[in-house]
Amino acid sequence: MSFARIAGTGVFIPEKILSNKDLESLVDTSDEWIRTRTGISERRILQNGQATSDMCLEASSQALKNADTSPEEIDGIIVATVTGDYVTPSVACILQDKLKTRKIFSFDISAGCSGFIYALKVARALIENGEAEKLLVVGGEHISHITDYKDRDTCILFGDAAGAVVLEKSQEPGVLSVCLGSSGAEGKLLYVPGGGSRDPLGYRFLKMEGKEVFKEAVKIIESNSLEAIKKAGLRPKDIDMFIPHQANLRIIEAARERLGLSREKCYVNIQKYGNTSSASVLLALHEAINESKIKRGDNVLFSVFGAGFAWGSAVVKW
Ligand code: UT7
Repeated sequence: MSFARIAGTGVFIPEKILSNKDLESLVDTSDEWIRTRTGISERRILQNGQATSDMCLEASSQALKNADTSPEEIDGIIVATVTGDYVTPSVACILQDKLKTRKIFSFDISAGCSGFIYALKVARALIENGEAEKLLVVGGEHISHITDYKDRDTCILFGDAAGAVVLEKSQEPGVLSVCLGSSGAEGKLLYVPGGGSRDPLGYRFLKMEGKEVFKEAVKIIESNSLEAIKKAGLRPKDIDMFIPHQANLRIIEAARERLGLSREKCYVNIQKYGNTSSASVLLALHEAINESKIKRGDNVLFSVFGAGFAWGSAVVKW
């Protein structure tokens, strides 16, 4: 039996900072309101002229380096994004060219903020089934591009970034479980009304019923995490580090408490980046590793909830 393990991580964080103070001059809000209601102090914005694939290239190159892997060794690329450079081709195909890999398969996954966990599920299955030995799994989001900086309900929350992992075949357990779910009935509580085939010229920015999303997120992150922990053959007390989607500090805290995990066992970096959608868990994982908050052999829980609604949780032995 072979397993799939994360061999290396990488990130790209744009230089430009958009602080809460900056937002005070764009919408009727305050630094104090944003910090107390969300935990966010600042977020990053991609420079004009750059696109999602540019961020994904940087994050992927770093992940390959950290995994001691060359682009030629990669058997496939999966990118989770809802903000591709173009409607088509996919970001993954652009990345295949930029990385100069072999002519391997490359495709994007659209699952909102949960995209990385969906991509992880697919990549793990391909490796465990013997279809691939090394895969690049990326989450990249140019979310400022679909954010309306006149809408205070959403513009305070989101930021741009990308993260990547190399997932490889291993004799030792790596990804222990991945549990996914969705409920399309609630799709319009968090969506982009225009720009697709339904209303090509319509409002092309995110719209969200924050309160409804909040309540559902807390419930589902708890139940879906417990499902993934159980499927991994573990109990909540066996989790060494919880890496939740960084959407709102109050959601993170409520979910952590419901899971009975201490603050030390929960990684938070939302204050620096806001909600970076499918890059969120990847940024937190990379930072937690670099800060030695995760060590080899630790059981790490990821849990994500977002547009769709679509959600996913995974337990990984680091
Ligand atoms: O990644 C996908 C998942 N996304 C999420 O998980 C986001 C989930 N939702 C949230 O994070 C929160 O619902 C928000 C941060 C979006 C909003 O926080 P809230 O505690 O649910 O606030 P609220 O919408 O209930 O609004 C409370 C008050 C209202 O004023 P009144 O009616 O009490 O007078 C709002 O008009 O705060 C007002 N408000 C603001 N004030 C200053 C709403 N947005 C702002 C703002 N600045 N940006």
